Amino acid sequence: MKAATLTLDRDFSLAPIDPRVYGGFAEHLGRHIYTGIYEPGHPTADAQGFRQDVIALVRELAMPIMRYPGGNFVSGYHWEDGVGPQETRPRRLDLAWGVTETNAFGTNEFIDWCQKVNTEPMLAVNLGTRGPDQARQLVEYCNHPGGTQLSELRISHGWRAPHAVKTWCLGNEMDGFWQMGTKTPYEYGRLANETAKLMKWVDSRIELILCGSSGRGMPDFGKWEWEALQECYENVDYLSLHTYYDDHNGDLASFVSEPDNMGDFIDEAIALCDAVKASKKSKKTLHLSFDEWNVWFPKNNALPQKRTWPEVSERPSDVYDMADVLVVGGMLLTLMEHAERVKIGCIAQVVNLLAPILTEPGGRAWRQTIFWPFHHAATLGRGTALRCAVNAPRFDSKVREQASVLKTVAVLADDESALTIFAINRDPAGDPLELSLDLRAFGTLAPHEHLCIAHPNLNAENTADAPETVVPHTRALPPLDHGKGAVTLPPLSWNVLRYRTAP
Ligand code: AHR
Repeated sequence: MKAATLTLDRDFSLAPIDPRVYGGFAEHLGRHIYTGIYEPGHPTADAQGFRQDVIALVRELAMPIMRYPGGNFVSGYHWEDGVGPQETRPRRLDLAWGVTETNAFGTNEFIDWCQKVNTEPMLAVNLGTRGPDQARQLVEYCNHPGGTQLSELRISHGWRAPHAVKTWCLGNEMDGFWQMGTKTPYEYGRLANETAKLMKWVDSRIELILCGSSGRGMPDFGKWEWEALQECYENVDYLSLHTYYDDHNGDLASFVSEPDNMGDFIDEAIALCDAVKASKKSKKTLHLSFDEWNVWFPKNNALPQKRTWPEVSERPSDVYDMADVLVVGGMLLTLMEHAERVKIGCIAQVVNLLAPILTEPGGRAWRQTIFWPFHHAATLGRGTALRCAVNAPRFDSKVREQASVLKTVAVLADDESALTIFAINRDPAGDPLELSLDLRAFGTLAPHEHLCIAHPNLNAENTADAPETVVPHTRALPPLDHGKGAVTLPPLSWNVLRYRTAP
């Protein structure tokens, strides 16, 4: 067995965690919307056609914010197509994913669905094939109380109260060749600035997210942020980041160390924002919105080679396993570690294709393996992130040198009634880890529980027939002796150690 130490102190405060880092992303993609969250005729469908089995599962994920409608989809989207009487909505070709979009589900349905799953909407505007005019009209349609053509149109559609959408994305991945309406950073920065101005003139309470590079590996990463931000720094509030990791064809050491690269990506994006801030002598600090992240197996989900226009996507969904728990869990911890600057995070996506929840058309819905670390983080990772002083063995991989076998973050609840330690034993050698804890700074701590996800088979998955193959188990959390103690973290495991502080 290997050994590691972890020392914590209340004063090792990193920053309060913004709960919105535990957000989600619902795109018109795959079977996310149609037969995912929306399926009139499904045995659990409510009067609006929303699957209530899915609503119950999404509520368990406790997502405070939900991005919509894309993604690549938004870069060709006409929001007007998705409002008003459903029978008159146009069917259109969706060039992003090669399907036929019926528009049966649109902005107003999404707003209602958000209320049902207890989340706040975050809408993206189309800056691919459209521009400032349509974007400001959508803000007016959604947020203006009434007395204008567009706000009265919303009211006539059945939504009297304004939607009060606060958070908006200025397009999606505008640097990507796969995007409808790809731009240079200068073109995009100018367009984003003019769009931002108009949107904020319609509603000054809104906050805007600028597209960063679509990934750290993009050839123009850095240059893109610098040039685009030069054009719009004062009119935007967040910079977006996107990242997906694959399993490196079974190279476990590389796969499990990727979340540390995500941390470097965040640090680089912060440096870029602050460099622009300095160059402009601005007083404003930009925050980050990590609004697409997950494990994604490109073999299943490559961009469409052929556009065949089916109405319900035939694209297969990624089925996640135990190894993915370690990486998705690691990515969540990376977001928490960067709480000072990352204020929004959206796992991509929520239902089907690449998601914690899978559904059968007309049938069952179940939790994938990655559902569980997300559920733990979103429900128990609320409070202030603490800096962890760690000593642990290290390992090298093709993508990273000297990664720690222990990835950990601690969170102190706002009322200081609970200390929660998230800890991943990601030792690729598959050894258990004896973790010695020094928690003396917290006074008397009562062990509450040790939630653990581990499975002898790293390829174990949850399926419709066996949905509980990989689930959390509760283990005994040994008592502390004057604030010191030890816990064994099983091989390749996700762990949540919960303590209660003395009243
Ligand atoms: O989340 C799936 C897709 O990945 C999104 O549509 C796009 O923004 C990204 O490339």
